[in-house]
This record gives sequence, structure tokens and C-alpha cells, in this order.
Amino acid sequence: MSLSTRSRLIAPHGGKLINRLHVGDPDLTARAAAAPQVMLGEVQLSDLEMIATGVLSPLTGFMTSADYHAVVHDMALTQGLPWAIPVTLPVDRDTADSLREGQDVALVNADGTIVGLLELTEKYLYDKQLEAQNVYRTTDDKHPGVARIYGYGEVYLAGPAFMLVDPKPDFPDIYRTPAQTRALFEENGWRRIVAFQTRNPIHRAHEYLLKVALEMADGLMLHPLVGATKSDDIPAAVRVKSYKVELEHYFPKGRVILSAFPAAMRYAGPREAIWHAICRKNYGCSHFIVGRDHAGVGNYYGTYDAQLLFDQFDPAAIGIQPLMFEHSFYCFKCGQIVTAKTCPHDKESWLSLSGTQVRAKLAAGELLPLEFTRPEVSEVLIAGLRENAN
Ligand code: ADX
Repeated sequence: MSLSTRSRLIAPHGGKLINRLHVGDPDLTARAAAAPQVMLGEVQLSDLEMIATGVLSPLTGFMTSADYHAVVHDMALTQGLPWAIPVTLPVDRDTADSLREGQDVALVNADGTIVGLLELTEKYLYDKQLEAQNVYRTTDDKHPGVARIYGYGEVYLAGPAFMLVDPKPDFPDIYRTPAQTRALFEENGWRRIVAFQTRNPIHRAHEYLLKVALEMADGLMLHPLVGATKSDDIPAAVRVKSYKVELEHYFPKGRVILSAFPAAMRYAGPREAIWHAICRKNYGCSHFIVGRDHAGVGNYYGTYDAQLLFDQFDPAAIGIQPLMFEHSFYCFKCGQIVTAKTCPHDKESWLSLSGTQVRAKLAAGELLPLEFTRPEVSEVLIAGLRENAN
């Protein structure tokens, strides 16, 4: 390949962007129509979509027991690449017993529509407590990610998979596959692209991370997770509105792309941070923001555990570069967002609002302090709460 035609973007994980989206393929469609059916839960449906569109490159299907164990124990795929989160297809024993290894399985959504085909190479039992302990660092069933696994069937199905219908995104106007984001980055002439994962509205602390990152980058991909989240997280529809007003009022046009990340949230803290980074590498991003308690929930993880985990890997094997940030907040004496690394003042000067205080203010229809959240964002959140209450 000549220098001029070679992509300047980071290579996908494993070197090749996987494409298993085979919409309208007559052979695969006929095979799926003739095969026994397995219904996908919402996590597996989103995983299938991410496998199909290359977000999970180099995965081409649901994990075999060899890959699963390598991931659970060693945070790697059998071929040696770093990988931190199992991508599995759970079923109950009766369903597993009705299927033969070597057989085709049609994957259907909750409406009974065939969405994919699995070439079933293996079905295997797994240890839920072990998966919970290794991936989530706890076996507590109050942890939302652990509770989800405890609710799964006892057998994982594995094998190469194909998606046979186009993804049906909840937010079509901001939906882009890795091939599409890569094309857009190339078109913009961007090379250093920072990705920001979030499942929250952009408060001022988040805005600070984004602006600092933008100082060194060609562009930013604001990449909110819009797959399944726990019920007390702010709904994606409200968040997406809040991202749009934040970008409209506080970021320069043409330097930020708002795109949806279709993954389900695992709340696996440090391991999920590694996984989130690798997914964004597949989208073509060179850098990934990792701040305080990334993908954490409750008190299961230390504030900087996610950052520490990156140090256990060979940076070249991960490829995408983490941009680590300390806990940031507003300091009244500095008159700006700061971190303990940049501010000499003590706690009394720092603005601190708990999640409960934030919710109470918004529920009362009060704007959050300007130092905490932009008024346009507060307004969207207040309206969202009202809509959800009706
Ligand atoms: S997450 O589950 O997607 O990680 P959230 O949307 O709160 O949750 O965080 C998005 C990213 O911003 C994560 O990398 C997180 O570590 C970082 N972050 C969130 N709040 C802060 C903060 N106050 N200071 C520093 N980093 C933060």
C-alpha cells in the first residue's frame, strides 16, 4: 500500500475490522430460517450488533470456553490479545440440551424476528461466582453486573455469529458503526482522536476533561453508552438531549462528534475501562479518557483502580492510549474546575454535591449551581424528570 492511501488511523484490535453484518445473504438467511431458535436478551442482542459491526474486533462470535477462561483468568484472548469482559450467550439447560454442537442456531429478538445466525461450535457450563469475582471483583448480588450473571441460564453457547438484519438504533441521527466513524475521521483529516465514554449528563467536571483533552487532540468523539443501564441511571433519551445542548453552547463546531455507543453497561469498573478503551480503538480513536471510578458503581472499586489496571498491560498491546484524569471539581478560590493536582486550596473551597442532592434539586425544578452543571443541561434534566414522572 502506498503512503498516500494508507490509513493514518489506529489499526483495529487484532489488525482487521470485523464485519459480520450479512443482511439479505440468501444462504445464511435460509440456514437461519431452517434452524432451531434461541431468543437473545438485550445484552446479547447489543453484543451481536457490536460483533457484527466490528466494535468487538477481533471477535467474530460468542466466546468459546477457551477464550472465556482466558478472559476470566488472564484478561486475554487465546490468541494473546488483551480482552477484559466475557462476551457470552447464556441459555438455560433445557434449551442447551435441545441443541447439538455443529448445528446452526437462529438468533431471534424479543419479537421473534430472526436477527442472526450462530454456528454452534460449543456449549459449556461456567462458574458464575468465579466469573463475578474475577470480572467484577465481588460476588455480591447487589452489584448490578453480578446480579445480571446470576440471573442468566447455566450454559453458554459459543461459535461464529452473523447478524442478518440492520441494527435498529434508538438514536439513528447519532448512530455510527466503526467503519463509519473511521471514514468520518479520515474525511476530517483527524489522526489524534479522543473518545469519551459516559453514562451521565455532561456536568462541568466532565466538560473540563473534554476541553483539556481537546487541547491536544484533532477531535473528540463524545461517545455515550446508550445500551442497557440500571434503572436509576438517567435514561439515554434525556442524556442525548443534554449532550446536544452542551455541545451546541459550549464546544466549537467541527471539533466534536457525538456518536452513540450501543453497548450494555456492565459496571465492571477497571475491567470495563479496558474493554471500553479497546472498543473505541476499533472505532478509530487513538486516545481514551479514564477519570475517577470509570464504569464503577457503589463502593466496589477504588477511585483510580481502572487507571491502575491499564499499567498491568503492555501499552502497545492495548494500542489506544488512556488519558488519565484525577477527580475534578470546582474550586471557588481558583474560580475554575481543578483537581488535587492543580489546586492548592482546601476542601472548604471545593464544590461538592452528592447524587442525592443533585436529584433533589432537579426534582424540585431547581437549576444546579452553574459551577456544577450548565443551565441548559439542568433544564434538559429537569424536563426529563418531569416527563418520566408522568
Ligand atoms: S462511566 O460509568 O461511564 O464511567 P461517567 O459517565 O460518570 O460514568 O464517567 C465518564 C468518564 O468520566 C469516566 O472516565 C469517569 O472516570 C470520568 N469522570 C466522571 N466524573 C469525573 C470527575 N468528577 N472527575 C474526573 N473524572 C470523572
